[in-house]
Amino acid sequence: MGARGLKMTTTSSLSSAIVTIFGANGDLTKRKLVPALYNLYLEKSLPEKLKIVGIGRAGSDDAFRANMKAAVQEFSRSGLDEAKWEEFCQNLFFLVGVFEDNNLYSSLAQLVSDTEKSWGGDKSTHIYYLSIPPAAIETVVCGLQKAGLHKDEVHDRLVVEKPFGRDLKSALDLNKKIINAFHEKQVYRIDHYLGKDTVQNILALRFANALFEPLWDRKFIDHIQITVAEEVGVEARGNFYESAGALRDMIQNHLLQLMCMVAMEPPVSFSGDEVRDKKVEVLKAVRSIRADSVYKSAARGQYGPGYSLGKPVPGYRQEPGVNAESSTETFAALKLHIDNWRWQDVPFYLRTGKRLATKMSQISIQFRPVPHLLFPLAADHFEPNRMVLNIQPREGIVLRFQAKQPGKGMRLQTVNQSFYYQDQFKKQPPEAYETLLFDVLAGDTTLFMRDDQEQVAWTVVQPVLDAWSSTPSADFPNYMAGSWGPETAESLIARDGRSWHSMPISQDPRDVPTA
Ligand code: BG6
Repeated sequence: MGARGLKMTTTSSLSSAIVTIFGANGDLTKRKLVPALYNLYLEKSLPEKLKIVGIGRAGSDDAFRANMKAAVQEFSRSGLDEAKWEEFCQNLFFLVGVFEDNNLYSSLAQLVSDTEKSWGGDKSTHIYYLSIPPAAIETVVCGLQKAGLHKDEVHDRLVVEKPFGRDLKSALDLNKKIINAFHEKQVYRIDHYLGKDTVQNILALRFANALFEPLWDRKFIDHIQITVAEEVGVEARGNFYESAGALRDMIQNHLLQLMCMVAMEPPVSFSGDEVRDKKVEVLKAVRSIRADSVYKSAARGQYGPGYSLGKPVPGYRQEPGVNAESSTETFAALKLHIDNWRWQDVPFYLRTGKRLATKMSQISIQFRPVPHLLFPLAADHFEPNRMVLNIQPREGIVLRFQAKQPGKGMRLQTVNQSFYYQDQFKKQPPEAYETLLFDVLAGDTTLFMRDDQEQVAWTVVQPVLDAWSSTPSADFPNYMAGSWGPETAESLIARDGRSWHSMPISQDPRDVPTA
């Protein structure tokens, strides 16, 4: 991670770069990539000599600049400054072409060499960002290879968006094709959750404080819950989502990576491979789910019609691009075990879904109860300590513990000790894509998925993918839009005598925000 993250790499040594975006007319380019590059530009975090080349079937420099201006206006966290935009947009260019056409890659090679000549002849950093459907990745990689745009292990870098394959086998095949052209150290596989400040802060919390790490194991922790709940439905992505589903779209990548951050052993340093080695160890230690016990370790759901923010909303099967009898899951929950000394017998419960009651990404660390309770309770149950790491919204950390109620006698109540980023630092965290694009430019792979990480993450979910695809769910849709998901997810955790923590810390009346 760059100067923006835990390590102090910078792009200052980088004087020039050409960033090529395949899929420049797509959603990601306008919602995330160009707004992120614009914000990096405002912060003077981009190289002085810069060209951003969009590639798509139709377009022109002018049209690309106009579309991206509208996109920045809508999606940039800092809005749009007309004068700055006028400077920045001089770096935007567009190349028309189809991915199957070799001429596209020779034109790109020509553009790269002409640009470098005009910049004085020194070699610049070349970033090839594939914001394209997974099926097109191989074609583009071959095109780049044929044009010789892959050869320089220092300057040529390939960025690949998720989903990386659709199961273990296709991920292995895809990887083989990429690695046939590019060296692993040139490949940046994106999981944007790793670019979030609050996710990186998990490492700071654990490894820059002496306080928590001694408690961070099976002796003190009862279980861990990881929830990524979305209020939105499938939006305009029905076509894509039909072949993905919640397990592939969220659990295989974002939620497993969050689990790795919480569960990994301390790395020796924050170099790319050190951190990634420790994460791979976690995934390798995940107990594999047996085919005949998938029903006990996993739950799936699909939303039906319901309400979101007080308004009626359609069910998944009524969304555009979705099959009227679709068996794709929009909710998935897993119970995992990590078989190592630190985590033996500590269950990790993971769940994610669309059209849930509220937007909330949080990790809830439930500590064990005290061995013997001396005091009478104010409520009818005793709540053992819990630490909540809130990834979004209202990013922060809350520690819940017992305190004596004022007055006579010794009556206890659970109270919150809170830290919120916004209150503390008085500034917005950067968007994940800013951090990640900055790191690609700086040549820092720490926050990107290595090939073995991808593979072992697929290995974890593969038995569930197999079981679910061979037996489509008979009860879909099985949860109402605006609820907390299907009943089967409740029973998954209730069987162990536990329940989901569904109250976002920012809505907990015991934790009224100060700002
Ligand atoms: C993406 C998924 O990777 O993450 C989307 O494909 C999901 O389906 C999104 O909505 C959630 O990201 P965030 O940053 O909004 O939590």
